[in-house]
This record gives sequence, C-alpha cells and structure tokens, in this order.
Amino acid sequence: MHQDCERIMLTEAQLRDRVKEIAEEVDAKYKDKLPLVVGILKGSIIFYSDFIRHLSCPVQLDFMAVSSYGGGAVSSGKLKIKKDLDNDVTGRDVIVVEDIIDSGFTLANLKQLLLERGAASVCIVTLLNKKARREYEIAPDFNGFDIENEFVVGYGLDYSERYRNLPYIGILKREIYEK
Ligand code: IMP
Ligand code: MG
Repeated sequence: MHQDCERIMLTEAQLRDRVKEIAEEVDAKYKDKLPLVVGILKGSIIFYSDFIRHLSCPVQLDFMAVSSYGGGAVSSGKLKIKKDLDNDVTGRDVIVVEDIIDSGFTLANLKQLLLERGAASVCIVTLLNKKARREYEIAPDFNGFDIENEFVVGYGLDYSERYRNLPYIGILKREIYEK
C-alpha cells in the first residue's frame, strides 16, 4: 500500500467484480440502443475504461471536463465547462460516468445541462457515493459503492492531481491534506 494511505477501502478484486456487475445491469437497459457514454475527466478514466469493456450494446464514447465550485458556503450557480463534448446530444441516450458523487453539484448541473441540450435521456453511473455529503438533489441511477465521508484516492481519484494511478481505492491520511 502507498505510504500516504491510511488503509485500503476497496481492493482491486472488489473493484473489478463490482464494476462488472453494474456494467452488466446498465448493458441490459441499453440492449437495442446506441448510447453516448460520457466520461467526466479526469477522475472517471480508469472506472470508465473498465466499465465500457463490459458493455455489449453498441456505444459511442465522449468526454467532458468540468469544474465545480460546489460544496462551499457560496452556491456558485453554473458549472464551468473546461472541455466540452465532441458530439451533439440532441435525441441521444446519454450515460454519464463519474468517479464519485459528493455534494451532487457537478452531476445535478451536468444532468440539467444535457437535458437542456436535448438529450433524450441521461443516466448517471457513479463508482462511489458519499450520501452523507449530498447538498444538491441528485441520485445516481447506478452506483458501485456507498462510502463513508472519508477522502479517498486511487483508481482515477486524486488529491492535488496525485494518486490517480493506484490500482485500489485508499483512504488518504489526514496529515497529507491537512498540512
Ligand atoms: P460534487 O460536485 O460535490 O458532487 O463533487 C464531485 C467531485 O469532487 C468528484 O468528481 C471529485 O473530483 C471530487 N471528490 C469528492 N470527494 C472526493 C474524494 O474523496 N476523493 C477525490 N475526489 C473527490
Ligand atoms: Mg472529478
């Protein structure tokens, strides 16, 4: 285990098994469709690449990068789009793949944006859900794991752009982000 982690919350095997399970559930829903699978950069990349390899329905891939100032005392209105989609979502069934839902700011705003752009449907798939932290009304349609309010890294998730490449999800030591 990495020295900056307090303990491993989810092992490689747990992640592998659960990702396969949710992908198969999602797949069953899109049998006769051609969904646009949208990964939210950068946190979702590893989850995204494992997830899509379990889909047997035809898919098209796209990515978006957004920044959220949500979760603070000031409610910041609109989502800032740092990289937009290449595809037009009008009439499309969109599957949004995200690493973690925390306050819900990012996904609540993103879902609304995609619907405003004319998406036929928007399905939210998250790997992790910190339910206790929710401030915006949004629930994932598919979720890998409900987790406690701990700061986690690895499997795509970062702290200060580090630790994304850890193959497991670990709880970051407090001293790392409180120093
Ligand atoms: P929300 O908009 O408050 O739901 O925030 C979601 C974003 O916050 C995620 O996409 C992550 O980038 C980040 N985030 C929230 N909790 C964690 C965590 O425990 N580790 C790493 N990133 C996190
Ligand atoms: Mg993120």
